[in-house]
Amino acid sequence: MGNEQRVSMVRRRGFLAAIGGVAFFNEATLAQNSYIQGAAEGAVMINANEFPLGPCAEALEAVKATAANGGRYLFGEAFKLAGAGAAAEGVAASHCAAFAGSSDPLHRAVLAYCGKGMPLVTASPGYESPEGAAAFLGVPVHRVPLRQSDYAHDVGAMLSAAAGKPALFYVTTPNNPTGTVTPMGDLERLVKEMAAGSCALIDEAYIHFTEVPSALKLIDGEKDVAVLRTFSKIYGMAGLRAGLMYARPEVLGRIGPYGVGFVPATGMVGARVSLGVKGLVAERRAYVRKIREDLCQWLDARQTGYIPSVSNKIMVDAGRPGRQLAGALARERVYVGRSWPSMPNHVRVTIGTPEEMAAFKRALAKVYSAA
Ligand SMILES: Cc1ncc(COP(=O)(O)O)c(C=O)c1O
Repeated sequence: MGNEQRVSMVRRRGFLAAIGGVAFFNEATLAQNSYIQGAAEGAVMINANEFPLGPCAEALEAVKATAANGGRYLFGEAFKLAGAGAAAEGVAASHCAAFAGSSDPLHRAVLAYCGKGMPLVTASPGYESPEGAAAFLGVPVHRVPLRQSDYAHDVGAMLSAAAGKPALFYVTTPNNPTGTVTPMGDLERLVKEMAAGSCALIDEAYIHFTEVPSALKLIDGEKDVAVLRTFSKIYGMAGLRAGLMYARPEVLGRIGPYGVGFVPATGMVGARVSLGVKGLVAERRAYVRKIREDLCQWLDARQTGYIPSVSNKIMVDAGRPGRQLAGALARERVYVGRSWPSMPNHVRVTIGTPEEMAAFKRALAKVYSAA
């Protein structure tokens, strides 16, 4: 299907979506749809995998200065961020593009690649956002359970789901919600064995919380591979909006027409400045790790189960329907994340500040003692 036909299909679907209520989702909408309607002021919000300390001081300064000049479109800032993103990872400038967060290129990739006979193959439980775009298009979605042994993506089963035909394979590593890593060997196998015409969309929204190698080295082969990064997580800029897609120029060009392309200059500048702050990622990674380990020790002591995570969130075994536990915690003004249909008795808990986690522990202990 050519680009023009695709765009006209998307327009038709857009009309159907408008009357039929099919929607695109990102983390904010997914979180909001779950539990935070009417959240009390001052409540503990550990529901959306945000970084609790927000942007670093240097980024904040730059954002303020940029806002003062906000009467201008400042188009050039997106290109400057893309250049800085490429340089930071040692890839060619032509292989990196900047967006208003990573949800935008994620949805564009689904719109560009999926179509009749080109399904989305994703993980269960996994980040659901691309499924919204697939539903919008009306294309099949194959949800492949994570590997039982280590909660990595089951690449063999994902390839089988596509049955040798082209597909868009979506892998989040570390995964959302489990915080588990899919080893590089599995990613290499996916790219090698997927049918020609496929795309491997590797979402590294949470890569900074670990020291595992990035899939960036896979973008320059013959097959289409795109790597997503966001400034919404470790860089603490979820509301400011900045993200990157790394891919060959043909891949970036293919997804290009599926969005308007406007980006906030404040987000672009904040992201670029953040990339240049030495030690920021390592410092924030250590901060999250310490709080996560403390939480795990506390859960161990209470004999509350959880899935070991290397990320800024953890799936806690609620011992009951997760929605019930989340509802009870919300009444204590602590808002945790959602549950997944394939893990209905777990809730996702974002790692917040030590104070926020202390409030979570108090609320959890209270809810359990009342049960
Ligand atoms: C795996 C994953 N990808 C992408 C996103 C989108 O983030 P943003 O659009 O804020 O960059 C999220 C948000 O939580 C996520 O968990």
